[in-house]
Amino acid sequence: MSKLGTGKINRLIAHFSLPGFLSQPSVAASLLKAAPILTPKLGQAESGSSGSQFPKTTALFGAGASGFLGCATIAYASDEAEHGLDCPSYPWPHISILSSYDHSSIRRGHQVYQQVCASCHSMSLISYRDLVGVAYAEEETKAMAAEIEVVDGPSDEGKMFTRPGKVSDRLPQPYTNEQAARFANGGAYPPDLSLITKARHNGQNYVFALLTGYHDYPAGVTIRDELHYNPYFPGGAIVMPKMLNDGAVEYEDGTPATEAQMGKDVVTFLSWAAEPEMEERKLMGLKWIFVLSLVLLQAGYYRRMRWSVLISRKLVLDVVN
Ligand code: HEC
Repeated sequence: MSKLGTGKINRLIAHFSLPGFLSQPSVAASLLKAAPILTPKLGQAESGSSGSQFPKTTALFGAGASGFLGCATIAYASDEAEHGLDCPSYPWPHISILSSYDHSSIRRGHQVYQQVCASCHSMSLISYRDLVGVAYAEEETKAMAAEIEVVDGPSDEGKMFTRPGKVSDRLPQPYTNEQAARFANGGAYPPDLSLITKARHNGQNYVFALLTGYHDYPAGVTIRDELHYNPYFPGGAIVMPKMLNDGAVEYEDGTPATEAQMGKDVVTFLSWAAEPEMEERKLMGLKWIFVLSLVLLQAGYYRRMRWSVLISRKLVLDVVN
């Protein structure tokens, strides 16, 4: 028995469509009027035919879909203003569900970070020991940590003192506080890079496109002298100058240090920093899929071979005898 009146349908449409023009009942009603073929049984809903359900569902679905498309177009238009020029999807070697990070790339990326980016950007969530077994051997990491000076204390005499770094120390901060960082960078704050590939829209693709996307200004565009034109940065003008120029570092494994190579390596390093547990996570996912597929097989067996006897049996209550 279908008892749906026009008012009810309108409310349903308002409920199912995305917040937008369709959520106004009057618009929904005019839509239904405009498409009489979709609502053949309106008004005589008591007729009891279940056939009228199908066109109504179709109408609801169509209305919802057009609301969704409307919103998607608006979202796309605002995307460039909010996130900068849409960046390409690069074929990262670690992106598929079965692949791990390229660890020699992480090692090279750390070298790029250390030699190029660390003078402005901190990575305060990463300590030296995180790199052990990922990009460096323990001895190498210890030697690297020992090169920095860390303020520690207070000592027994109540004074702060400096000591060589240990593997448990975090990577050093380039500036003591945000004000110092802004003062040195023309008012702009170089963000901490520990989680940057998670913190930005389209993370790693964006950071790669940003680092390699510096251009001369297009004709007709003027920006302040201390800014640099980069269409991938929201607004198009960024304080950070182009940092990756061919040969900016010399890789110890002999890889040619081109701009794109350094960009790829440093972004791989940053992706690892933001999600060091990725390999573990994928491995765990595979184990679960394996175990659950065994459970599924077993459930199938029980359903088919054991329960089917119970499901298909017939109980007869014989009241006469
Ligand atoms: C000379 C200092 C300096 C160096 C060196 C530097 N940056 Fe920056 N970076 C900045 C500043 C300043 C900003 C903030 C820009 C702004 O707000 O206009 C920034 C912003 C960024 C952003 C964030 C953009 C956003 O969407 O907010 C990323 C990512 C970034 N830098 C990555 C790097 C990487 C990777 C390197 C090394 C290859 C590097 N930077 C080297 C100064 C620097």
